[in-house]
Amino acid sequence: MLKVQHLYKKYKNAETPSVDQLSFSFEKGNIIGLLGPNGAGKTTTISILCGLIQDFTGEVNVLGYDIRTHAHILKSKVGVVPQQIALYPNLSCKENLTYYGKMYQIPSNQLNTLIADYLHEFGLYDHADKQIKNYSGGMKRRANIIASLLNKPELLILDEPTAGVDVQSRSMILHFLKNYQQQGNSIIYTSHLLEEAESICDEILIIDQGKKVIQGIPKMLIKEHDTENLEELFLKLTGNKLRD
Ligand SMILES: Nc1ncnc2c1ncn2[C@@H]1O[C@H](COP(=O)(O)OP(=O)(O)OP(=O)(O)O)[C@@H](O)[C@H]1O
Ligand SMILES: [Mg+2]
Repeated sequence: MLKVQHLYKKYKNAETPSVDQLSFSFEKGNIIGLLGPNGAGKTTTISILCGLIQDFTGEVNVLGYDIRTHAHILKSKVGVVPQQIALYPNLSCKENLTYYGKMYQIPSNQLNTLIADYLHEFGLYDHADKQIKNYSGGMKRRANIIASLLNKPELLILDEPTAGVDVQSRSMILHFLKNYQQQGNSIIYTSHLLEEAESICDEILIIDQGKKVIQGIPKMLIKEHDTENLEELFLKLTGNKLRD
C-alpha cells in the first residue's frame, strides 16, 4: 500500500531537515499510526504522501503508484484530512461539502445523496445549513473528515483527526475509522493520544526529528521493550526532553 525509501525534506531556510532518510512500508487494509513528538515531521511526511509537497528526495510509492509520476491518479484514490480545518468559515457545512464534491466532479444528484448520508452518519444532518464558523471544534473536525470521503478514497490519510474534540466526537470518529477499514480501505493517521493509537492501530511508526525510531505492531513492541503500554514505550524511545 505504501513504500517510502530514503525520504528527505528540508524546508527553505531551515537549518535541519524535517524528514531525514525515512524508509518504511505498510501493507494494504491496515490502520497505521504515524506517531512522534511535536515537530517530528509527521505533517511534512503526510504532505509528501498526498502530493502537497513535491520538492523532496527519495522514493514514494502509494497504492502501487510513484507519487512523482502518478499524482493525478492518486488524487482520486487518496483522501486527506489536514491538521488545520480546511473549510470555508462563511459557508454552511452543506455548501462546503458540495464545493468539494464538485471538485471531484461527482454528478449533482449522486452528490446530494452522498452528502446527506454522511451528514447523518457524522451527526451533522440537523446542522447542515449552519455556517462552519458557528460549529464547535468537534463538529468542524467531523465536517472536515466528510470532505475527504466524497471521492471514496481507498487510502485515507488523517492528520490529528481527534485533536481538540470531546469524548463523544472522538469515539464517533474512531468507530468510523474502524468501520471504514473493515470495508477494505487503508488508513494512516497521526495522533498524540497514545492510548487511542494503541487501541486502534494495527501498526505504528514512531518518528522523531525526521528519523524513524521504530515500526511494528503495538502489542509486540510493548512486550519486546518490556513496557506496560504505548505511552511508556514512546517515552522510553523518544525521551522526556521537551520539543520546541
Ligand atoms: N513550511 C515550513 N517551513 C519551515 N519549516 C517548517 C515548515 N513546516 C514545518 N517546518 C518544520 O519542520 C519540522 C517538522 O514539522 P511538522 O509540522 O512536519 O511536524 P509534526 O510532527 O507534524 O509536529 P506536530 O505534532 O506539532 O504537528 C518542525 O521543526 C517544523 O518547525
Ligand atoms: Mg503536525
